[in-house]
Amino acid sequence: MSGGPRGASAGGGESSGKRGARVPAAAALFLVLGAAACDNQLKYVPIFSFMAEQPSLESYEEPARLPPPGTAALGSRRSYTLLEADSLSNPLEMEELDLALGRTEFETYCYVCHGIDGRGKGPVVGPNRIPEIPTLNLHSEQARAYTDGYLWGMITNGRGLMPSYRRIPADVRGQIVVYVRALQSGEIDPAATPAEPAPAE
Ligand code: HEC
Repeated sequence: MSGGPRGASAGGGESSGKRGARVPAAAALFLVLGAAACDNQLKYVPIFSFMAEQPSLESYEEPARLPPPGTAALGSRRSYTLLEADSLSNPLEMEELDLALGRTEFETYCYVCHGIDGRGKGPVVGPNRIPEIPTLNLHSEQARAYTDGYLWGMITNGRGLMPSYRRIPADVRGQIVVYVRALQSGEIDPAATPAEPAPAE
């Protein structure tokens, strides 16, 4: 079909010029427009079916489906403020401390400020950097007295100069809390225990 007009215009030559080419071009245009219009009309003929016309819900046609009251979706990313988190308990117990993971995470995210042993002497603390404030020391009476939930909420939300580490998955944040507890109790002395070599990728 499209070979016709193209052939005609190509055969028209230079001298017969543009006027000759106009007629087939216009015809082609009419054909294309006509076919498009037909396509639009054909859906009204019951023997044709088109994918665009199907029983389906339009966006926002139905109200959003809410979870049943009193439930939380599995793996949900519900966020807790620091104070809401205070009353949560860590589902992980000391025995479940994955030392290698806890340590890797702590030394990835927390070490720079809180130091390898959690005493607040990380490499970015000092003049013209993060000021040496007492709350950087995770061995203080105050830090020991916090609930597990508060520590978890602290990692989740940050506070003051400490940024939020919400991007660490919720359960890994729980693992860091267990690691901090082990640092506080002296169960783990990172200076005495060499870090395990990173697992091969
Ligand atoms: C960029 C530096 C920085 C990093 C990284 C950081 N913190 Fe902090 N953190 C702070 C500062 C500053 C404070 C004191 C904030 C305040 O006083 O309000 C603090 C306070 C805390 C406190 C409360 C201590 C108290 O006595 O009130 C805890 C717990 C804590 N951080 C845990 C962590 C953990 C766990 C990580 C790693 C996931 C981490 N922080 C990463 C800077 C940091």
